[in-house]
Amino acid sequence: MSVILGQEQVGARSVEQTLRNIGPVVLLGPPGAGKGTQSKRITQHYRIPQVSTGDLLREHVKQGTPLGVQVRDLIARGELVSDHLVCDIVAWRLRETDAQRGFILDGFPRTAKQAVWLDSFLKFEFGDTGKWAAWLPIVVCIKVDYNKLLLRITGRRTCPTCGRIYNVHSQPPLVDEICDVDGSKLVTRDDDREEVIRERLDAYERQTKPVAEHYGRLGRVVEVNGDLPVDEVTASLIEAIDQGAHGAAGSS
Ligand code: AP5
Repeated sequence: MSVILGQEQVGARSVEQTLRNIGPVVLLGPPGAGKGTQSKRITQHYRIPQVSTGDLLREHVKQGTPLGVQVRDLIARGELVSDHLVCDIVAWRLRETDAQRGFILDGFPRTAKQAVWLDSFLKFEFGDTGKWAAWLPIVVCIKVDYNKLLLRITGRRTCPTCGRIYNVHSQPPLVDEICDVDGSKLVTRDDDREEVIRERLDAYERQTKPVAEHYGRLGRVVEVNGDLPVDEVTASLIEAIDQGAHGAAGSS
């Protein structure tokens, strides 16, 4: 298998292998599990887009759009944004032409309602196209020890320009607080404050665990050990996606 080391792709992969249809992939896991870190790597590997509802919402907040104004305080408190708002931005994004071969959903679906909505959307939009082995997503659940999650979130820094994710403990930039790629000053997310982190972890337990159960019942969930170093987690994810993209279970 070819894996991605650092930000580079290594190993011999044919163009056909890289550019084949993958279909929908959902990365599930609590805050700090590594969904954003891994999505960026998988995106490079398969050349399919990352669709992160957190990033899309934060961009609205940054631009001060009406949606951004509506959701800013909710996000800062670590609460979930209402289902219909999030489903609308996902529908809009998944209809873009770059999502036709597949996409990585990072942070969505987050509630049982969002999962049911996603299944109907995928069936309606892609069910009859025959492009993918299955219109139901491959759902990969990243499991991480609770104390490690706290350490990861409090140590996270992000580049406001290119979106690269760092960690002061495990993945520090070459120069303190400066992005290796473009020299921007790194920022700490508003919702990475300690009092908010617990609310986000609770929201995951209450509202997002049922999503894993929903896809578990459909036989679509693969669990990956997210406690391991980043490269090893990437290799496990790619293996899970490769296997799922070849199977046709749950397509009817
Ligand atoms: P969102 O942006 O989705 O945040 P999240 O789910 O809380 O996840 P995080 O971004 O905190 O963590 P991650 O798993 O991506 O970890 P990362 O790769 O950064 O959502 C934010 C808010 O938006 C929500 O609270 C809600 O308000 C709203 N929202 C978003 N989607 C919504 C939806 N569908 N419905 C309703 N509301 C929604 O990694 C974390 C750190 O660990 C980094 O520093 C990284 O460098 C490090 N790290 C990663 N992997 C490893 C490893 N293997 N070893 C060591 N360190 C690692």
